[in-house]
Amino acid sequence: MLNLVVCVSGGGTNLQSIIDRIADGTLKDVAIRRVIANNPGAYALTRAKDAGIEGICISPKSYASRAEFNEALLRGVKEAEPDLVVLAGFLVAIPPEMIRAFPNRIINIHPSLIPSFCGVGYYGLKVHEAALKRGVKITGATVHFVDEGMDSGPIILQKAVGVEPGDTPEILQRRVMEQAEWKILPEAVALIAGGRLKVEDGQVRMA
Ligand code: GAR
Repeated sequence: MLNLVVCVSGGGTNLQSIIDRIADGTLKDVAIRRVIANNPGAYALTRAKDAGIEGICISPKSYASRAEFNEALLRGVKEAEPDLVVLAGFLVAIPPEMIRAFPNRIINIHPSLIPSFCGVGYYGLKVHEAALKRGVKITGATVHFVDEGMDSGPIILQKAVGVEPGDTPEILQRRVMEQAEWKILPEAVALIAGGRLKVEDGQVRMA
């Protein structure tokens, strides 16, 4: 069994994609042990509750310093004893202590084809605004392992999505979610659950 902790900040549609693939049997031998939100209003917590999964909020606002928040976050993750931590729209810089505690055991979904439109300041809708502003014809999503940089870890899966005339950031975001994110995130979890991935020289090899 591959035990997951899923970290979220907002709507939780990517969390839902994992819940749904577990429920329909596509994701075998995988269980979500805990959902952690950094924001008490995250709808993702409602999704967790509806699926019978423990959901907790660890908000930076409840701690005197960033260091204390980082400690609480690491504690909250470790308590659930995960094999894999999934950042599913978790808009928090992951503390280095957490990366050291879970080497190549944290994955992130990013709504572009890395290395385009990633790094500091590129998250959520801002990624799609930047892609439209640049006039790219193809965008997409990436699942990668998390290292100490921002969106710089080894790439696991990518899926391209076309940009269409008249797209707004919201329309493009939805298409990237439907056609790419909700597919490749559960697929990446399945590959890891099946023991199919190895990281060598900063690259992901598939067995
Ligand atoms: C998703 O589009 C995800 O790729 C993005 O936030 C959104 C969360 O949506 N993540 C990032 O931008 C990380 N840099 P969701 O809460 O509905 O899954």
